[in-house]
Amino acid sequence: MTGASATTDSIRPLVDPFGRGIEYLRVSVTDRCDFRCVYCMSEHMTFLPKKDLLTLEELARLCTAFVHQGVRKLRITGGEPLVRKNIMWLFQTLGRHLESGALSDLTLTTNGSQLARYAADLRAAGVKRVNISIDTLDPVKFRAITRWGDLGVVLEGLDAAQKAGLAVKINAVALKGVNEDEIEGMIRFAHGRGADLTLIETMPLGDIEGDRTDQYLPLSVVRARLLDRFTLEDIPYRTGGPARYVKVKETGGRLGFITPMTHNFCESCNRVRLTCTGTLYMCLGQDDAADLRAPLRASSDDAALNEAIRAAIARKPKGHDFVIDRATSKPAVARHMSVTGG
Ligand code: 5AD
Ligand code: SF4
Repeated sequence: MTGASATTDSIRPLVDPFGRGIEYLRVSVTDRCDFRCVYCMSEHMTFLPKKDLLTLEELARLCTAFVHQGVRKLRITGGEPLVRKNIMWLFQTLGRHLESGALSDLTLTTNGSQLARYAADLRAAGVKRVNISIDTLDPVKFRAITRWGDLGVVLEGLDAAQKAGLAVKINAVALKGVNEDEIEGMIRFAHGRGADLTLIETMPLGDIEGDRTDQYLPLSVVRARLLDRFTLEDIPYRTGGPARYVKVKETGGRLGFITPMTHNFCESCNRVRLTCTGTLYMCLGQDDAADLRAPLRASSDDAALNEAIRAAIARKPKGHDFVIDRATSKPAVARHMSVTGG
């Protein structure tokens, strides 16, 4: 079955060997980005030749195949997804699954640089929430972390998103000696404008220039420090991803923690990741992958593709084991976050 008209009764859910239902697909639509964040990329990245990329039509067909197998939530990521040409077409096409009820959530993770231009179109396509990555509110530090980014432009994007009616979550990677003194300010900033804030631990993905040990800041430390200032109340709120939330009593806002390093959340993992070349990674922290491009291109019928998806899910590993210390100098996996997406 192809097209955007999945009915809920034709769906065969995907369940992995550990009994985890796979309902969440993250799709990296490009490995390119207009920033060069220090913990994500090296300054001189070699990107994929454009001819290796799946077309937007192929990406839509792949996503649709997943939706027909029970995926309820799609997150479009990159690199920076909004730098891909004609990307609104993909959002509009996938938005039809929201109308049919097959999909409950279509979201994206963005660095915000192009949001001022696209926020209204995203909302019109059915997107209700966006994650915007902002690691610091200091323009000089922002330039240092992103190498190429402009905080002012990103904040305009944030404004545009909120004006367009998109719920915003700000993602900040906690970086030792860089933004650790700003976390209180960022909580007040985000909550003051009705946005959630989620803090993320750096993960050892891909070679970067420099030593990750210098950047790694455990969120257990951040949380303990915040208790001097704030009352944090654990809440059961979930968005389908790995973040665990607290309510900050003093601001009334939500604060999330994504702790791949200090707390392994793999037990409840419900997601897989698709790259822009049609490779499916069953775990962010493992190298095993399945090629979906070959079955996709082999036939216009989805039978082989659906089989390849089910075979891949049957190999989903139990979890990752990331290590960041001085004795472990190699990243856990060689590929950068910009390949598999956040
Ligand atoms: N570890 C943790 N987070 C990362 N991100 C990019 N690379 C890494 C890494 N190595 C974050 C970005 C963005 C999200 C997509 O992932 O800052 O918020
Ligand atoms: Fe681009 Fe995001 Fe990587 Fe920064 S973290 S370089 S914004 S893909």
